[in-house]
Amino acid sequence: MSASDSTSAESGYPRGFFDRDDERPDSSFYSSPRLVTHIDDGAIAAVSALYAELGIDGGAAAPARVLDLMSSWVSHFTAPPAELVVLGMNEPELAANTAATERVVQDLNVDTALPFADGTFDAVVCCVSIDYLTRPIAVLREAGRVLRTGAPVVITFSNRCFPTKAVHGWLATDDAGRCAIVARYLADTGVFDDAEVSIRTPVERSYRGDPLFAVVARAR
Ligand SMILES: C[S@@+](CC[C@H](N)C(=O)[O-])C[C@H]1O[C@@H](n2cnc3c(N)ncnc32)[C@H](O)[C@@H]1O
Repeated sequence: MSASDSTSAESGYPRGFFDRDDERPDSSFYSSPRLVTHIDDGAIAAVSALYAELGIDGGAAAPARVLDLMSSWVSHFTAPPAELVVLGMNEPELAANTAATERVVQDLNVDTALPFADGTFDAVVCCVSIDYLTRPIAVLREAGRVLRTGAPVVITFSNRCFPTKAVHGWLATDDAGRCAIVARYLADTGVFDDAEVSIRTPVERSYRGDPLFAVVARAR
């Protein structure tokens, strides 16, 4: 399936869903490195625990090749996988990612095609970033293409973002709505089994940390 086929998938969403307040090129917004963390320590620990639970980090028995989409200077693996390809917008951020074994600078809102061969990854992860994609179904369909059959795509997010760069559909809803959006993106690719949605941080109302949601689906 070509990238142009995804246009019809994204056009099935409400008018303006993928518009953003700041429509300037992402290359200008991400031109300066941000060597910060975007979620708190509890949420980061929840991401690391999920990766370990799925067996996609360096603790797994089999050597893993993992793609971190929309990456920065941290990928949140407790033990990094043997091969970690990081793809993001900012070269100095990716250069500072000590877990990475390969680095790709690419604007996925300009070019949704991933520069990798079919079926060459054991997992694709995307942490606190899916809300910035204006053609998420095209990108996630590409994630499915580069994954081995049965391998997971792991999308995590919280309730924080750069609001001017997030798509309006994301900003217009709540946590449950955002989980539903990501599950729908994956279903609309047509290349994943049904997604599993979970909250990875405590659900008690007294919990004051950043919540961490995960949507995981396996490539057909
Ligand atoms: C909130 S940060 C999250 C970084 C990292 N995944 C983490 O967990 O800390 C958003 C990231 O998305 C990446 N990003 C934003 N827009 C992008 C685009 N159009 N194409 C590729 N990456 C993008 C940026 O490089 C940035 O590092």
